[in-house]
Amino acid sequence: MCQPQTGMRVVITGKGGVGKTTLTSCLATVLASAGTHVLAVDEDPQMNLPNALGVAYEDAAKIVPLNRHADYIEEKTGIRPGRNGWGALFKLNPDVEDVVSRLGLKVAENLSLLVMGTVKQAGGGCLCAENVLLDATIRHLALRMNEAILLDTQAGMEHFGRSLAKGFGQCVVVADSSFNALSVALHSASLARETGIELVHLAVNRVTTGDIRLERFERETGQKLRDLFDTVVQLPAEPLLQALDPHVVRIMADRQNGYAAAVTQLASLLSSPPCPCAAGHHQHHHHHAH
Ligand SMILES: Nc1ncnc2c1ncn2[C@@H]1O[C@H](COP(=O)(O)OP(=O)(O)O)[C@@H](O)[C@H]1O
Ligand SMILES: [Mg+2]
Repeated sequence: MCQPQTGMRVVITGKGGVGKTTLTSCLATVLASAGTHVLAVDEDPQMNLPNALGVAYEDAAKIVPLNRHADYIEEKTGIRPGRNGWGALFKLNPDVEDVVSRLGLKVAENLSLLVMGTVKQAGGGCLCAENVLLDATIRHLALRMNEAILLDTQAGMEHFGRSLAKGFGQCVVVADSSFNALSVALHSASLARETGIELVHLAVNRVTTGDIRLERFERETGQKLRDLFDTVVQLPAEPLLQALDPHVVRIMADRQNGYAAAVTQLASLLSSPPCPCAAGHHQHHHHHAH
């Protein structure tokens, strides 16, 4: 049997515009309303998650992302952002135990939001104070207990390097049924596996009846999505989301709604994921020692 989790930690990734932020906000809301303490983390520099979660425009405009909190960064790393240069001595493992209590925003019962700002590319990224802090924060979040953490990302995950692997046990790759989004999804899936994320799910979003593109993608690429992902879920196209823009989370008020129902199902799947050590398990897990 699987060990009970210390708290679920899920990273949401996929091509731009496919519905990551919408899905993150809705998942966060389902879990929070079921009584789970949820921390939603916005890692996309576009910072759309506050709006999606229904934070009022004036309040969202006041949010200072973590990488811009110069005082906090200096307090934690010993270096004021922008003043570092050769010879600067960072605290490379700053203690950010208080990052959520100090910089997080409570957006609803059981639901807090942390806005990170940009994580720079691991390769070309500088060893600047902001990045040291962001990296420490990701590592810290991975260890927080009794809390569901949902990390909404900008397209791609390369910039996380290996910090994610420390505790983000699940990844939801979002795609629509377009060839390009599905190609990006396959790439994201292999990156997630390389990073060491155990469970990689595919959420195909904006599905309409009679759309043959998924099958065509599989035929043309010779790839079977169900073999490449631990689970594949479909989220229907929902015109009401446009009417609710930007506070899309209000779609969850009616759980009979097709999109809301599908998100609710995905949330319960994430809360009690299929055990990777179970018999008949997924082929990608064969390398795990028993
Ligand atoms: N299932 C859906 N049906 C219709 N529109 C959707 C659906 N999911 C997302 N959208 C819309 O698509 C747009 C992009 O979604 P968003 O969540 O911001 O994408 P991303 O975060 O991946 O860039 C938004 O306007 C959102 O309301
Ligand atoms: Mg987004």
